[in-house]
Amino acid sequence: EKPFTVLAFESSADDTCAAVVTSSRQILSNIVVKQHVLHEHFGGIHPSVAIEAHQRNMPGAVRRALEEAKITVGDVDGVAFTRGPGIGGCLSVGSNAAKSLAAALNKPLVGVHHMQAHALTPLLTAPLNELPTFPFLTLLISGGHTLLLLASSLTEFRILATTADESVGRAFDKVARMLELDWGKRGLGAALEDFCRTGGDFDEGQLGRGLDDAVPQLPLPMPGQLGFSFSCLHSSVERALASHPSSINSSSVPHAYKLALARAFQSAAARQLTSKLTLGLQWCERRDITVRDIVVSGGVASNAFLRDRLRVALDEYATSSVTSGSDKYEPIQLLFPPVELCTDNAAMIAWASMHRFLEGDHDPYTIELRSKWSV
Ligand code: KG4
Ligand code: ZN
Repeated sequence: EKPFTVLAFESSADDTCAAVVTSSRQILSNIVVKQHVLHEHFGGIHPSVAIEAHQRNMPGAVRRALEEAKITVGDVDGVAFTRGPGIGGCLSVGSNAAKSLAAALNKPLVGVHHMQAHALTPLLTAPLNELPTFPFLTLLISGGHTLLLLASSLTEFRILATTADESVGRAFDKVARMLELDWGKRGLGAALEDFCRTGGDFDEGQLGRGLDDAVPQLPLPMPGQLGFSFSCLHSSVERALASHPSSINSSSVPHAYKLALARAFQSAAARQLTSKLTLGLQWCERRDITVRDIVVSGGVASNAFLRDRLRVALDEYATSSVTSGSDKYEPIQLLFPPVELCTDNAAMIAWASMHRFLEGDHDPYTIELRSKWSV
């Protein structure tokens, strides 16, 4: 039987995306046109700049998505788009393209929830023998999101934790900038990770006192509660830098001090993520929800130090479940989908729409956006 072919559009934030995916889990094309360089000096996404860039880039993205998939528009069986949540004007670029195209082709249309699409991505990307089974947890950690999601089925999702202020990725970026690290090929967050790893061992004597006294203990915000906060970490680093004697007499901050701060930040960020993830598992356990898979995705998930901390935390959780006599404990699989499919893309939108197309559950061509939309 011929697989169902979906052409999907995504433009909820600052990436212009188009992709072609089939019901047999084949990603025929996945085009992402980034525009972060346009927004860097605004310190966030500038809405009207983003809207104009989407308008400029979307036609080319769709053209390329069809070309790379080696199909013509006549081969498209259904058109999907991100209905929300996101920046209204940005969403409208992808949704207008999708609706008009579907109407012109007289093909079915499906509007997709962006976060649900992120949560369902591992069902598209994982090898068949590692497919997560419902219910599973997704820790989505990027420049745009810091979320702990429980996916119970293709249509049931719950956000267990989100950030009270900024995303973990932005905190990595800000700290890397404060420490004056260079943008590497992989960006500021990865530059901070590399600095922590390769910055070298150093003589505590250089700091003039013990490391523990020199570098402040960075906080674990809202302990015991499901909720993230990362601005408290980067502001602690900022204060520590500003109060260092060299900042006051304007000589340069010693390398050893920067390195100690970078490591303290990365450890505190990892500690927060592992601690909230463990709380999420306990939340599920209290409700008799047996979670066997945890999917960790987004740009920050490529951090090897963090991956290691997450593994250790899960092992500890397993041990404590066993010793506390809980008979509910099942081994937990930690999955890291490829980063390019965890960051914003249209392949995940196509995949999240697939079950609706296959069930014949379509949206009308008049469907409206939902820039604010809970899961
Ligand atoms: O998911 P992503 O590529 O894109 C968006 O969020 O749009 O995430 C990018 C974020 C940036 O803040 C970047 O600094 C961070 O992920 N990041 C990292 C690492 N690689 C990327 N943070 C920490 N360690 C890394 N290795
Ligand atoms: Zn996203």
